[in-house]
Amino acid sequence: MKLEQKRDFKISQAQGKLAVLTPGLGAVATTFFAGVEAIKRGLARPIGSYTQIGQVRLGKRTENRFKKVSELVPLASLDQLVFGGWDLFPENAYEAAKHAQVLEKDLIEALKEPLSQIIPMSAVFDREFVKRLDGPNVKKGLNKMDLADQLRSDIRNFMKVNHCDRAVMVWCASTEVYTPPSSVHQSLQLFEEGLKRNDPAISPSQIYTYAALRERVPYANGSPNVSVEMPCLQELANEMATPICGSDFKTGQTLLKTVIAPGLRNRQLGVAGWYSTNILGNRDGEVLDDPGSFKSKEVSKTGVLTDILSEKRYPELYKDLHHVVRINYYPPRGDNKEGWDNIDIFGWLGYPMQIKVNFLCRDSILAAPIVLDLALFMDLASRAQMRGIQEWLSFYFKAPVTQRGLTPEHDLSVQLLKLENTLRFFTQEELIHHLGLTYYGVDEG
Ligand SMILES: NC(=O)c1ccc[n+]([C@@H]2O[C@H](COP(=O)([O-])OP(=O)(O)OC[C@H]3O[C@@H](n4cnc5c(N)ncnc54)[C@H](O)[C@@H]3O)[C@@H](O)[C@H]2O)c1
Repeated sequence: MKLEQKRDFKISQAQGKLAVLTPGLGAVATTFFAGVEAIKRGLARPIGSYTQIGQVRLGKRTENRFKKVSELVPLASLDQLVFGGWDLFPENAYEAAKHAQVLEKDLIEALKEPLSQIIPMSAVFDREFVKRLDGPNVKKGLNKMDLADQLRSDIRNFMKVNHCDRAVMVWCASTEVYTPPSSVHQSLQLFEEGLKRNDPAISPSQIYTYAALRERVPYANGSPNVSVEMPCLQELANEMATPICGSDFKTGQTLLKTVIAPGLRNRQLGVAGWYSTNILGNRDGEVLDDPGSFKSKEVSKTGVLTDILSEKRYPELYKDLHHVVRINYYPPRGDNKEGWDNIDIFGWLGYPMQIKVNFLCRDSILAAPIVLDLALFMDLASRAQMRGIQEWLSFYFKAPVTQRGLTPEHDLSVQLLKLENTLRFFTQEELIHHLGLTYYGVDEG
C-alpha cells in the first residue's frame, strides 16, 4: 500500500527575523519570552518543546533513521525571533514577568535587559468580554474597523522598526466571555459590515484575528475564545492564503485526559463518570472566576471526552457518562495549579473501579513551549504555502479547529502521528502508516 504524496512542497528558507506577536503579556507570554531568552543564553533547556527536542522517525524501522524536527524542516532559529505584543496594562515584559510570579527572581533579573525592551502596544479591549479586568493601555477608535486598522498599523510598524521579514501572532491574552457564532460571523462581508457599525457580537479577539489575517500574519488561538472557529475568519484566512489554528492550549488536566481516555476506550473499558476540579490562583484563574469566561473554558474542556468516549459509537460503555469540570480561583496557589480527577470506570461484567489523578502542575511552564512550537510551525506552514485551518497542529489544542463536518481528533498519540506525517509530507519523506507487514515478508505494495 503506497500513500500518495501529490503536492510538491516548496518551502522557502527561514531567512531574516520573525516577529512573534502576542496579544496579552501575562503569565504565559512572559514565561515564553523569558524562556527563549534564557535558552539562547545557555541558562536553561527547552524542555517540553517538540520543535527543539522532538525527533521524527524516517523510513523503515530497519533503517534506524531519526532526525531532529529542527533538522528535518526549515524552522526559524531562536536567534531570529523578535518578541512584541499588546496588553491593557503598560508594564514591560520584565515587570509583567515579576508580577506573574512564575519564574524565579534570579532568572528574571538575569533577563532584565531583553525583557524590559518588550513594551506592550495599546490593546483592543472591551470589558463586556472580560469582566474582571480593567487597565489604561487601551486603544480608542471610531468603530471596530478603525481598531482593526490600528492593529494592522501596529503590526506593520513593529516589523519595520525591528527589521522583521515575517510575523506570526499567538493569542496569549485572557479568556473572553463565551460567544457562539451569530449572523454577523456567517460571512466575511457581513463581518466587515459589522466591524464598521460596531456590532456588539464582535469580540476583541476576533478583531485581532481579522487584523492579523489582513496582514497575512498566521494566527494561533491559545485561549478558548471563539475566533478562528468563525466562518467569516476562516473565509478570510483562505482568501489571504494565511494559516490559522486553535483553540486553547492543551497543557495540564486536558493533556492527561487525552492520554488516559483513549487508553480506556481502546481497551473497551466503560466510564461512568469523570469529575475534574482545579484550583488556580493567577490572573487567568481570576478571569475564569467570571461565569461568562468560565463558560468558554468549560466548552473547550468538556468537548474532549464527548468525542473520545463517544456515546453514539459505544452506548454500552459511555451512555451514562457524567463529565464535570470545575475551576476554582484560589489565590494562594498562584500559577501552580492543582488538578484532581476522579474517574469511575467499569470493566469485565460491569465491575466498577476508580482512578485518581492529582496533577500539581505549573500552568505557564506547560504552556510556554506550546507558544514557541506554534509560532515556529505556523511560520513554517506559511512558508509551505499552507492556508486556512492547520489541523495537523491539533496536538497543541484542547478544542482543535477542523474543516466543517469533520470530528476533531483528540487522542494525543494520533495527533502526534498526524503532526509527524505532515512534517514527512513537507519534506517528501515516506509517510508512515505503521502496518509493518513488510518486516514479515508480506508485500505491502
Ligand atoms: N497556562 C495554561 O496552561 C493555559 C492553558 C490553556 C489556555 N491558556 C490561556 O492562555 C491565556 C493566557 O493565560 P495567562 O495565564 O497568561 O493569563 P494572564 O491573565 O496572566 O495574562 C493574560 C494577559 O492578557 C491581557 N489581556 C486581556 N485582554 C486583552 C486584550 N484584549 N488585548 C491585549 N491584552 C489583553 C491581560 O491584561 C493579561 O496581562 C488565557 O486565555 C488562558 O486561558 C493558558
